[in-house]
Amino acid sequence: MTEVLDINITKIERSKLTDISLENIPFGKFFTDHMLEADYENGEWKAVEIKPYQPLVLDPSVSALHYGQSIFEGIKAFRQENGEAVIFRPYENLKRFNLSARRMSMPEVPEEIFIEGMRQLIELDENWIPTQAEHSLYIRPFMFATDYMLGVKPSETYKFLIILSPVGPFHAAPMKIAVEEKYTRAAPGGVGFSKNAGNYGGSMLPATKAKEMGYDQVLWTDAFEHKWLQEVGMMNIGFVINNSFVTPALEDTILKGVTRDSIITILKDIGIKVEERKLNIDEVVEAYKNGTLTEIFGMGTAAVISNIKKLKYKDFVMDFDVNSFTISPKVKQALDQIRLGKTADKHGWLFKV
Ligand code: COI
Repeated sequence: MTEVLDINITKIERSKLTDISLENIPFGKFFTDHMLEADYENGEWKAVEIKPYQPLVLDPSVSALHYGQSIFEGIKAFRQENGEAVIFRPYENLKRFNLSARRMSMPEVPEEIFIEGMRQLIELDENWIPTQAEHSLYIRPFMFATDYMLGVKPSETYKFLIILSPVGPFHAAPMKIAVEEKYTRAAPGGVGFSKNAGNYGGSMLPATKAKEMGYDQVLWTDAFEHKWLQEVGMMNIGFVINNSFVTPALEDTILKGVTRDSIITILKDIGIKVEERKLNIDEVVEAYKNGTLTEIFGMGTAAVISNIKKLKYKDFVMDFDVNSFTISPKVKQALDQIRLGKTADKHGWLFKV
């Protein structure tokens, strides 16, 4: 049970909201009036503060910048039809955040700071939740190492922050994807399952090279054979093969996506067979050739569902008519209905602000 947390709140004098239109707002460029900040030292989290959104002042030796102890989460809040503000499955993100923290030798953040702090912050900036279709308030909790030192060891001090960004659709257009055969996102025993900053930094060069070839992102494969599928860009990947939904089973190379889990649950609810298992690119090519591969899409918090219209493996290019997809729009609509309060939240996914 969440305790009532004593948070020191300093409010802004004049909201920036009067100067900004939230319609079709680009992803992650604008931030709300306030942010949450908490410091960890001497083995415990100190006073939690909500204050006007502002720059951080850090010593150049700050450990996170040099050795990468830095993790984050992505969560969304929505304005429901009845006017209520809700956060989608924040406890799942709390669990994953602390999983990432353990892997990166960082302290865990307690529920009363992560959840109750987020709730109070959103309550204060509630007017920033956009109401247009496909819009939401993106919540970015993050933590980084703040020791001022160049010695290579786990930092003894950390900062935890939550910032909020009103967002429109992330990837509006269907994507063109190239199967990655040179670079690797994650290997067994590594940090692929954690949401740490370095995973994203390392993905930028392969993504840039894919763009140079006319593709939007890469489909990540395993480190050894470059055949076993992991994720697409920054999202989990799903296929419809033989009318079943197939997605790579969770391993330490794959992020435990909250959207992935929500989609699997909805698909099972509507009677679609779900297979979480190892999946090889040869099977995908074969299914494309024999006509049993009918849909392919990415799943993530930011984009929700991103259909794939082109998939290139070596010299073989697979084209998909995204207008013929039936499962991806159905599941997206079901998810939207729950989030906007149009159908019952039977899995208890909505957390009221
Ligand atoms: C998400 O889909 O939430 C992601 O992880 C993408 C984010 C890094 C923008």
